[in-house]
Amino acid sequence: MKRVLVVNGPNLNMLGVREPEVYGRTTLAQIETDLVRLADQLGVQVSFVQSNHEGELIDAIHAAARDADGIVINPGAYTHYSYALRDALIAAGVPAVEVHLSNIHAREDFRAVSVTAPACVGVVTGFGAASYALGLRAVVASMEEAGS
Ligand code: DQA
Repeated sequence: MKRVLVVNGPNLNMLGVREPEVYGRTTLAQIETDLVRLADQLGVQVSFVQSNHEGELIDAIHAAARDADGIVINPGAYTHYSYALRDALIAAGVPAVEVHLSNIHAREDFRAVSVTAPACVGVVTGFGAASYALGLRAVVASMEEAGS
């Protein structure tokens, strides 16, 4: 069975309580439960990592090169400045889809820039918790297209 790693960056462990007017009230645990169900329907296996530390995220992405066939990633604020995460995604060499709950293009100017997006097949941004489900569907489609 194909495997997808879902990576969440800093502050996303606070979903549900953190700025609910921007990010909604769904917790990360609920998002992950829904993704397990969707993965089942799509015939793939999902695993999850969340960290507030850049190096841990990089280590997880490196491990995905070996242990996963695709990545769904919400890099949080690292989206906007982590060249290290971008390089890790390229190094992993498996298709990645970047997701955001909020529409990063409709917020502060600094959020409109994603330095990690060029390392991904595409970006899903602005659909709240549903961005993750759309991202999982997108990465599975990319994996199939790549024949991986
Ligand atoms: C976010 C958008 C980022 O700008 C922000 O720093 C986050 C969450 C989102 O999912 O909308 O932490 O990635």
